[in-house]
Amino acid sequence: MRDLTPSTITNAFAEYARNAPSARTRELLVGLAGHLHAFVRENKVTQAEWGAAIDALTRAMKFTDDKRNEYILFSDLLGVSSLVDMVNAATTGTPSSVLGPFHIEGAPELPNGGDLWKGQVGEPLVVSGRIVDAQGKPAAGTVLATWQNSGNGLYAQQDPEQSPTNYHARLTVADDGTFAFSTVRPVSYTVPDDGPAGDMLRALGRHAWRPAHLHMIIKAPGHQPLITEFFPEDDKYLDQDAVFGVRAGLVLPFKRETDRARLPANLVAGNSLPMPVWTARLDLRLPA
Ligand code: BEZ
Ligand code: FE
Repeated sequence: MRDLTPSTITNAFAEYARNAPSARTRELLVGLAGHLHAFVRENKVTQAEWGAAIDALTRAMKFTDDKRNEYILFSDLLGVSSLVDMVNAATTGTPSSVLGPFHIEGAPELPNGGDLWKGQVGEPLVVSGRIVDAQGKPAAGTVLATWQNSGNGLYAQQDPEQSPTNYHARLTVADDGTFAFSTVRPVSYTVPDDGPAGDMLRALGRHAWRPAHLHMIIKAPGHQPLITEFFPEDDKYLDQDAVFGVRAGLVLPFKRETDRARLPANLVAGNSLPMPVWTARLDLRLPA
């Protein structure tokens, strides 16, 4: 095509892709190009502005390695990771949320009732609850993977003072779906903002804070896995999460318990936790 204009280039792009081997890939790429073209036309994007966008992507390379991925951070901060989660979310069961970058495949096993806190910095928290399937029944072999930051605000991967799997665990729930463990109360923290994604936040007048949360992945044989996270209802960043991960059904009261006798009976650290202790009750339902 030689007679391209701002209004015909989008059709030309689609036409050039008519032999794409995968119809779905063609649909996605033609759609992406169409939205980008419309964005350029509507905003009359200048050479300097487009150059700055390319420069940000180029600089993102320097901030990306096996521990950090600036491209995923852009996706998170733009709300795209959260939107991909929401458009694919089940309509039943506990809401899902974003995975984030700190999940470790194959984290150490924690016995049901086990302790992750071990007297470390921060306030101890007892998490207990029950996991059921879409029909409300416990699913045999349900495994709960959990990970969170330490009381100092850092994930193990960000802090050489912590063991590499600190506050990462996998727990097999009891036959009746119940589970309990002690940990530290997670704290709100900032996502890394020293790279080009952080520059984007500053250009938007936004901050980098996430409200405190506990991440979880629930897997049960024969069921869809659930990737989610839970937030204390008193966190001041709930309505301004930098990565748009908060869902109403994931916000919970964290309560102070003064009576040791009311803690779950199977808590390994039940007799040694300093009272009062924070408690959170999680009742989860797997998607249909
Ligand atoms: C997190 O929840 O751990 C997280 C999510 C997105 C970006 C950075 C951190
Ligand atoms: Fe997180």
